[in-house]
Amino acid sequence: MPGNEKLPFARPDLSDREFEAVRAVMESGWITSGPETDLFEKEFADFVGAADGAALNSATAALHLGLVALGIGPGDVVLVPAFTFTATAEVVSRTGAVPVLLDVDRKSYLLTPDIVAEFLRGCRGSDGKLTCDQGVVKAIICVHYGGRVCDLDGLFSLCQSHGLELLQDAAHSFPARDGAGYVGRRGPVTAFSFYATKNMTTGEGGMITGDRPELIEKIRRLRLHGIATPAHRRAGWHYDVVEQGYKYNLSDIASAIGRVQLQRSLEMWEKRKAIHERYQKAFSSVPGLRPCPEQTGSAHHLYTLEISGDSGLGRDEFVAEMEKRKVGTGLHFIPLYRMTYYQQKYGLDPNRFPGCEAIFASIVSLPIYSAMSESDCSRVIDAVLDSIAAVQRGPQG
Ligand SMILES: Cc1ncc(COP(=O)(O)O)c(C=O)c1O
Repeated sequence: MPGNEKLPFARPDLSDREFEAVRAVMESGWITSGPETDLFEKEFADFVGAADGAALNSATAALHLGLVALGIGPGDVVLVPAFTFTATAEVVSRTGAVPVLLDVDRKSYLLTPDIVAEFLRGCRGSDGKLTCDQGVVKAIICVHYGGRVCDLDGLFSLCQSHGLELLQDAAHSFPARDGAGYVGRRGPVTAFSFYATKNMTTGEGGMITGDRPELIEKIRRLRLHGIATPAHRRAGWHYDVVEQGYKYNLSDIASAIGRVQLQRSLEMWEKRKAIHERYQKAFSSVPGLRPCPEQTGSAHHLYTLEISGDSGLGRDEFVAEMEKRKVGTGLHFIPLYRMTYYQQKYGLDPNRFPGCEAIFASIVSLPIYSAMSESDCSRVIDAVLDSIAAVQRGPQG
């Protein structure tokens, strides 16, 4: 990207192969969900090592159908970190259940088993059920924020001892490794996003993977109106609706892009990793900057910096300086309890979320994507160091 144009915060990495794959599907005469989507979901599930997977039109749809298929609904409570995108909590209230927002760990920005355990200790137990003021606690949605994976061993074991389901919001976390394998292979529901800014994209799109094939089969039905057999697998005109469903399917055009992106995913991830490493090296010893928390196996979806008060500048001034240098930045996330809708509905006191508040006050996300060149990366580093210096000098400096 030439230095006089703004470097965007994110940009999809699409090669000739994606264009050719879309052309082939368009020429085939079948462009909605069909054979290409069947292949995409099989290849994706195989890649992460999951028993099965179903392609959907977003991660939001994946989380929503995951909750529906697990039978979560009115009277239930689902624990959700407050430091996330609204989709994670929105899907819970869509089922009629209540999302109870929890704080995150100040250092990793993740929901931890300790935070969940502390909440559960405050619940009342009877008939094998844990109840809090908002209802019966049924599930947790953990968010693998920025590409880093939550402590899954700890969370699964907590869920097992309290009879809860663990759903994983892995919108940021493909391909992320957790121990010996990829995120998506464990548990009943892992939701991935293929939104335009994500590590791999189909424009809009998502995937649910899980270790209970019957649950994924139900989701396959729910995603298309509860119809028993999808159009491309029917011999004749007859079809049956066996339950109330949704319109959450992914088209073959999107799946064609997804199949190529999946094949290129490790190569794209290597580039993100290299950018992450360059940033870490450049920012680790700069006073006033807290570089991105490290985790082996991260998908490196976000590169976050914390701009601490010691540097003599605030995050907002830093962002303004980056704008002057034509480098896009992002903010992940404004905690949910600060949003009008959540404030009006749940009226939560920010003081109950010291981790989220401290992170939110100082965090900013820098561009990190596989379509960035080495000189784009150098441009970001220079802009960060310059911006810090400019704000430290102050307006007159
Ligand atoms: C943490 C998180 N969860 C869920 C989503 C929703 O993903 P989608 O746009 O595919 O529905 C996003 C989107 O950015 C996200 O950041």
